[in-house]
Amino acid sequence: MRGDIEALVKEVVTEFAASKGSEGDLIRGVGMPIPLTIMCWLLGTPVSDIEKFRQWVLPMAEAVSAVDGRMGDVTAQAYKSFGEYFWPHVKTRAALIESGAEAPDDMLTRLLTVERDGQKLTQEDVMGFCQFLMVAGSATTTLLIGNVMGRIIDDPALAARLIADPSLIEIAVEESLRIDAPVHGLFRTNDEPVCMQGVDIPVDSKVLALFGSANLDPNVWENPEEFSLERDPVQLRKHFAFGVGIHYCLGAPLARMEAQLAVQEMLARLPNVQSNGERHLVKAAVLKGFEVLPVKWGN
Ligand code: HEM
Repeated sequence: MRGDIEALVKEVVTEFAASKGSEGDLIRGVGMPIPLTIMCWLLGTPVSDIEKFRQWVLPMAEAVSAVDGRMGDVTAQAYKSFGEYFWPHVKTRAALIESGAEAPDDMLTRLLTVERDGQKLTQEDVMGFCQFLMVAGSATTTLLIGNVMGRIIDDPALAARLIADPSLIEIAVEESLRIDAPVHGLFRTNDEPVCMQGVDIPVDSKVLALFGSANLDPNVWENPEEFSLERDPVQLRKHFAFGVGIHYCLGAPLARMEAQLAVQEMLARLPNVQSNGERHLVKAAVLKGFEVLPVKWGN
């Protein structure tokens, strides 16, 4: 997908650079449209519908850490709207495949046709995965793009280094993943009793694995709270921002590519991009990053 993504990033940043008054919200203008458009490509929905998805993604992400396991009205409505949109979409595609007609060659078709030991996924499974993927594949990468750009905007010396040597952008994205892990933590239910660091965790406890905290562990990282381009690239990629073990993020290469291309294009087109007012953090407790990141550029 690299060629298509490069073209998309150029288009999105060009449009953003043409914003009235040479100012705008970097999240709304760049961070959101890139991953959301790619999700539309994967899930076979019209790109014009990203406006709808934009409104559902963050409230759905907030459900992961809902207080008392209860969703607020906005989150419940987002799930409902998502279901009303996606259920007919999945059914229509399944019917198309069933009819023997040529179906689009995207991830949705693959999910509906893939077999293991002669078994296919049910339409409910596919629907659930689309919902998961819409959040996992877009909100996270939006945050990553905002987090790296936030660091660059706040540090002119860092910006100057990356502009002079764009090959360092890859390290900057990796260091951002470490220091500002977009998925700060996720819950687990242990299916057997565990003793960790002398603490007994009875079976069926809810535990919160804090990837973001592990990434700041002073026993592992030198000056963990310092954003540095000098870290050994091989060691740096061992951060936990994409999880660990069997559930390691399937979208890590895609997220890395999107963020690297977005930062590269932003710095090439808007080298003097600056902060422009109050930033708002996302409310979902397990996520870290900006919901609004106002910037300006020009002379
Ligand atoms: C910066 C962006 C991203 C971050 C920080 C991130 C983070 C994570 C983390 C921490 C997990 C582990 C979940 C767990 O252990 O329970 C995970 C899993 C997953 N992610 Fe990502 N993700 C990102 C982008 C993406 C993208 C772009 C996609 C797909 C388009 C994606 C798809 C998935 C999937 C399918 C899983 C589940 C893997 C499994 O359970 O086997 N992610 N991600």
